[in-house]
Amino acid sequence: MEVWTVANQKGGVGKTTTTIALAGLLAECGKKVLLVDTDPHASLSYYFGIESEDLDLSVYDLFIQVSSKEQILQSLCPTDYSNIDILPATMGLATLDRSLGTKGGMGLVLKKAMQKISQSYDYILMDCPPILGVLMVNALAASDRIIVPVQTEFLALKGLDRMIKTMDIMQGEHDKPFKYTIVPTMFDKRTKASIIAYQELQETYHDKIWPGVIPVDTNFRNASIARRVPSHFAASSRGVFAYKSLLDYLLKLP
Ligand SMILES: Nc1ncnc2c1ncn2[C@@H]1O[C@H](COP(=O)(O)OP(=O)(O)OP(=O)(O)O)[C@@H](O)[C@H]1O
Ligand SMILES: [Mg+2]
Repeated sequence: MEVWTVANQKGGVGKTTTTIALAGLLAECGKKVLLVDTDPHASLSYYFGIESEDLDLSVYDLFIQVSSKEQILQSLCPTDYSNIDILPATMGLATLDRSLGTKGGMGLVLKKAMQKISQSYDYILMDCPPILGVLMVNALAASDRIIVPVQTEFLALKGLDRMIKTMDIMQGEHDKPFKYTIVPTMFDKRTKASIIAYQELQETYHDKIWPGVIPVDTNFRNASIARRVPSHFAASSRGVFAYKSLLDYLLKLP
C-alpha cells in the first residue's frame, strides 16, 4: 500500500480534481484505491454522491477515538466504481483545530489508521483542505508521496512558496525525507500569464516538477457535474491524456 497526499495551501488549484483523476486511472489499471477526504467542505465526498452529513462515521471519528481496523473499514463508503472506496469528510472536521487545540500526539492519527487497513488497498489518495491545520499536517505525515498541484498563474506561485516552507518545517518531525512532485495545472497555452508562470516554475523547482502540464479542459467540470471520474467521462480528452502521463511518471519515480 502506498499513500499519496494531494496538498497545497492555496485554494482552487486542482487538488480535488487531481485526486479524482489519478484515482480513476489507478482503478482502471486494476488497483484497489481508497480516497480519503480531509476537507471539511467535503467536495471529494460530494463528487461521488455521498451526502456526508447523513453518515454515522467519517474521517472525523478517527480523531475522536482510537478506532480498530474493523471500525475504520465500517466507515468506508463504496462508490459507483468497484475499485474505488472513500473515507468521507463531514463538516465537523472544521471544528477539529479548535477542539484538539494544543493536544499533543494528534499528528499521526491518519497515518496510524491507514496502517491498520493497509492490506485492503494498493493506493490511498488523500485530498487536503487549502488550510494548514491538523488535517493537512496529518495527511502530510501519512504520505509516501506528496503531489502539489499549482495553477500556472502568478498568485499561485506565491502560494507554492508557502507550501514548500510548510513541508520544510514539518520535515523536522518526519523520519524520512518528504518526496514531493509539483504538478502545473490549468495551463492555458494561449495566455502569456500561463506561459510565464510555467517558465518560472521550471526555473525555480526544475528537479521537483513533473515535466508536463495539465491543460485547462472543460471536461473536468463537466465530469464533476456528471459525477464520473474524468477517464470514464471523457476518456480521450486532452486533460485525461495529461493525467495519464502524470501517473506514468509518478509510478516510475523511486
Ligand atoms: N485542468 C482544469 N481545467 C479546467 N478546470 C479545472 C481544471 N482542474 C480543475 N478545474 C476546475 O476548477 C475548479 C477547482 O478545482 P478543484 O476543486 O480541483 O480545486 P481544489 O484545489 O481542490 O480547490 P479547494 O482548495 O477549494 O479544495 C473546479 O470547478 C474544477 O472542476
Ligand atoms: Mg478541493
